[in-house]
Amino acid sequence: MGTSQCMWNPFANMGTLAGKAVTIVGGYGSTVFDSEGRAYLDALASLWYCNVGYGRQELVQAAAAQMSELSAFQTFEFYSNHPAEALSRRIAGLAPMQDAKVFLTPGGGSDAVDTAGKLARAYWRAVGQPTRQVIISRSHAYHGMNAYGTSLGGIPLLTEPFGPLVGQVEQVPWDDPAGLEKTIEMLGDARVAAFFCEPVIGAGGVYPPPPGYLAQVREICRRHDVLFVADEVITGFGRVGEWFASTRFDLEPDLITTAKGLSSGYLPIGAVIASGRVAEPFWRQGSTEVFRHGYTYSGHPAAAAVALANLDLIERDHLIARVAELEPVLASAVAPLAELPVVGAVRAGTGLLAAVEIAEDARAADPTLAPRLVLAIRESGVITRLLRGIALQISPPFVITEAEIVRIAEVYGEALSSLG
Ligand SMILES: Cc1ncc(COP(=O)(O)O)c(C=O)c1O
Repeated sequence: MGTSQCMWNPFANMGTLAGKAVTIVGGYGSTVFDSEGRAYLDALASLWYCNVGYGRQELVQAAAAQMSELSAFQTFEFYSNHPAEALSRRIAGLAPMQDAKVFLTPGGGSDAVDTAGKLARAYWRAVGQPTRQVIISRSHAYHGMNAYGTSLGGIPLLTEPFGPLVGQVEQVPWDDPAGLEKTIEMLGDARVAAFFCEPVIGAGGVYPPPPGYLAQVREICRRHDVLFVADEVITGFGRVGEWFASTRFDLEPDLITTAKGLSSGYLPIGAVIASGRVAEPFWRQGSTEVFRHGYTYSGHPAAAAVALANLDLIERDHLIARVAELEPVLASAVAPLAELPVVGAVRAGTGLLAAVEIAEDARAADPTLAPRLVLAIRESGVITRLLRGIALQISPPFVITEAEIVRIAEVYGEALSSLG
């Protein structure tokens, strides 16, 4: 076997994929190129992250400049670096909460989620309520693939293979505020640490919140003094037309988890944003409480420098206003797909996020239909993927043009019409 067949891809059936992977070698704007010279319009911004588009030299230069000065140095206990400090200040300034503090995480959103889960429990212990340990999440939720995130996940295919990992997690229906309150009351307030909530469910199938849902669950959490954790790994830094979905939906969370769009993926970095309330027991003068958690690459200076340059770019090019402008363009481009017999539902209308769900009867009649659609769409030069095995994702870079959005909808429509 050649070296090209040693790579074990995430989420892949290596029995069929080995030797057939599409090797991506470059990118520019919303387009990526494979090793055969084919161009693809990226309807996904990779995995919901390449928001400023490919080929941004400003970000490359930010990494190179920082690495020439200081490649990396740890931030445990005493040490810090300028980019990590500046990025934390910048994020705290953007965050929709009072007196925010920022805990930088080195990888993707999974690190941020595990950090937030542990911080929620550590907070309650620090304020003298150590029995508050249960974390509640929603059906269809995706909170990443580390142990906490897997345990909080609401997609059975992704949780069942591993059995129980982190204890004291509970799940409630994704769209039912009364279900959340009932679960909190059943457990008793004294046992519940936090509620994890994607303001717009992403990997579970792109579900914008039902009208009034977020305001109600936010209020329920306040009433029972349960920490509200907004998982904004997808929605943070512009994807719903505001810096945070928490701003758009007026959530004032206790914690926010972020990653992806923080650096547009040019280097991996994430951040947990803690409200003043959550930070206070650890930051208070004379406190003996220490959050004993962190990663070797927390506050990596090159990643932080890239994230700063990425936020600069988003501001300079007014990309968040652009997302707001493109929201109705995307929604009306995909709306007609709902008329196709093979389509069960089209969900759009919250920023640059949409999903085209394949009808249940069509999937049942032909289980190969959904994966064949993904391949057909790729053959036509557009990269998509399936969410929860049922829906085609659309989450393009913020720099996508209106013509490119129309092209994505056309290609989806052609594939759905010819294979459906
Ligand atoms: C809402 C949410 N949380 C957490 C994660 C995990 O992020 P990562 O895969 O970068 O670790 C994701 C990834 O898609 C996500 O969508």
